[in-house]
Amino acid sequence: MGKIIVSGASGQFGYAAASQLLDMGEDIIALSRSTDKLADLAERGADVRAADFDSPDGLVEAMQGGDKLLLISTTLVGERARQHANAIDAAKEAGVKHIVYTSLLGARKPGNPSVEGFDHIATEEYLEQAGVPYTFLRNSLYAEAVATAMAIPALTSGSKPENAGRGRVPVVSRDDCIATAVAVLTQEGHENKAYDVTGPELWELPDAMALVSEMAGKPIDVEIVDDEGMFAYFDAIGAVRRAEDLTPDTPIPWASEGMVTFGQSIREGFMDVESTDVERITGKKPRTLKSVFEQYQGAWPQ
Ligand SMILES: NC(=O)c1ccc[n+]([C@@H]2O[C@H](COP(=O)([O-])OP(=O)(O)OC[C@H]3O[C@@H](n4cnc5c(N)ncnc54)[C@H](OP(=O)(O)O)[C@@H]3O)[C@@H](O)[C@H]2O)c1
Repeated sequence: MGKIIVSGASGQFGYAAASQLLDMGEDIIALSRSTDKLADLAERGADVRAADFDSPDGLVEAMQGGDKLLLISTTLVGERARQHANAIDAAKEAGVKHIVYTSLLGARKPGNPSVEGFDHIATEEYLEQAGVPYTFLRNSLYAEAVATAMAIPALTSGSKPENAGRGRVPVVSRDDCIATAVAVLTQEGHENKAYDVTGPELWELPDAMALVSEMAGKPIDVEIVDDEGMFAYFDAIGAVRRAEDLTPDTPIPWASEGMVTFGQSIREGFMDVESTDVERITGKKPRTLKSVFEQYQGAWPQ
């Protein structure tokens, strides 16, 4: 049994995946920019190594001895394709035999405007050319993001601008994305495949906010806006529009074009996908959005 490398092991996805693999008795190499956060994984037997995909130096050594790599997509939209390419080059040079990559649902559909998706398209294409067997896990919108980043400001202000309109998205729990990744890494036969990692129901985001409102007992006025209206909302909270305008001093560390074009992509149907891949691969039904809301309800403003 070869070693499984987990990148970004201090992140929510990476930490949980690494932890589950250890529980299953797998031999893992846990990579992170913050190895100090991985002391407990080290105590449980993980081989913890420093790795930052921004600097190719040392990446090959960090991946040496690994058989498979769970490549968790990084965070900085616009920079990620380059970071992922550095990771893929290093994995290939280190002799990794299978790269499992966390991609985005619908990104490869022609004409998808999602700027966040562009990094994923570039990475999938890079992997296809790299000559190392790959698996693409095309994750839908995380239910946890809806339950926190979307729900909390909406409950706080009582309103939510929304440019996704009545487009549908099969919101998925990150737990199910992690379970699918762990299964793909520990089962046979997933090489050179792409899976749609989706939740059990297609949601319109205004309906998801209506459920939050009902569960919280607080009003949320969802205002359907166009893309310019959505940009104006993010302008007002101080976000730059384009990733290339980000500087170390920018108050908000992301650009609104990622969010606005993500909403546009939902509105235009690029994430309107039904799939049974999660249940088929994990053997378990994926979580409902309501069950994730119940989990996070305690963190909502009273
Ligand atoms: N589908 C969705 O709705 C959705 C929502 C949010 C995020 N995502 C994507 O899913 C990924 C995992 O989600 P999460 O919830 O675990 O996010 P998270 O907790 O914010 O973790 C961010 C991840 O990015 C890694 N990272 C950032 N910059 C890096 C670099 N220069 N080199 C290597 N690794 C780097 C971090 O690794 P270390 O800090 O350990 O180095 C960590 O694994 C995110 O990074 C993002 O690409 C998807």
